[in-house]
Amino acid sequence: MKALVLAGGSGTRLRPITHTLAKQLVPVANKPVLFYGLEAIAAAGIEEVGVVVGATHASITEAVGDGSAFGLRITYLPQSSPLGLAHGVLIAREYLGDDDFVMYLGDNFIVGGITGLVDGFRRDRPDAHIMLTRVSDPRQFGVAELDARGRVVDLVEKPQEPKSDLALVGVYLFSAAVHDAVARLTPSRRGELEITDAIRSMLRSGLKVRSSLVSGYWKDTGSVADMLEVNRLVLESVEARFDGTVDEHSELIGPVVVSHGAVIERSRIVGPAVIGQDAHVLDSIIGPNTSIADKCRVFGSEIQHSIILPRASLEGVRCVESSLIGQDVAVTAAPGVRGTHRLVLGDHSKVRIDV
Ligand code: TTP
Repeated sequence: MKALVLAGGSGTRLRPITHTLAKQLVPVANKPVLFYGLEAIAAAGIEEVGVVVGATHASITEAVGDGSAFGLRITYLPQSSPLGLAHGVLIAREYLGDDDFVMYLGDNFIVGGITGLVDGFRRDRPDAHIMLTRVSDPRQFGVAELDARGRVVDLVEKPQEPKSDLALVGVYLFSAAVHDAVARLTPSRRGELEITDAIRSMLRSGLKVRSSLVSGYWKDTGSVADMLEVNRLVLESVEARFDGTVDEHSELIGPVVVSHGAVIERSRIVGPAVIGQDAHVLDSIIGPNTSIADKCRVFGSEIQHSIILPRASLEGVRCVESSLIGQDVAVTAAPGVRGTHRLVLGDHSKVRIDV
């Protein structure tokens, strides 16, 4: 069995972060979200992985390399533009050959891995297996309709009037039978080749499409709120570790990771929180639910429920919360100009200011 990881896409909902970084590389507890998926694939005993990449291919290739760090052999499959999930399967046709494969959306986060699912597919050999989860607003998802015996009877992408609250999770298993269905697809109203249409066509051809409910937590990390929630969830299970330097005037409360080379001075860190390598925290209060990446500087500031990417700095800024701060960003106080704000913001930035 192979894996096909979709790590292209536009990432419009995470702009401006995605102007310079692939959305699959936004860190959760200081580790790219994509790495959790690759680890789950390796844990399921799969070694051959095709990674579909788009405009952000350089950052993905740099971060993931040949896959050996994960125990994987990775082949990159360039996608000319994000023409849909099924388009990812189409361009991977030759790479996948006649092998069964698991398709994993690179920005999806699943607690509990995929080993049980992959083992079940190997045992039962259906033509497709989809994973479902109950959601409060199914209109934003691909939605499955099941019959009284729990068999999949239909799938609709982002339905206006959903027939169930069962949304498709971003992990699918297929036999080579999917390729015929994908080859027959035409673009949907939003101009994409939809994987839901391919599975629908498999259903109509009488092929075996199975489903199961995800047992654990699942999240598509497409938006900032989703990223922050996944970060909070992953931090909940970190264990305290101090590899850096914490001075005697600082206080660490609850599970806090202080990575190698990090320096904490005259500060309070409220766990769960992670402080990255060579980060410097001075006269600040950090946490809970906060990830500070490598080489960040937080001086005289307060931040909680947030993710800060590498080399960003906060200086003299209080009450920062629920924020996603990009690489090399500098947020500083403007001394002497009370009641005013000075902003240099990139395209698509979003700032909320207390006025
Ligand atoms: P989406 O989140 O559906 O698409 P997107 O990345 O374009 O995001 P946005 O809506 O914010 O613009 O994609 C799910 C995953 O699949 C994600 O990891 C990107 C990847 N993908 C591809 O690799 N190729 C594609 O053609 C599409 C649509 C997505």
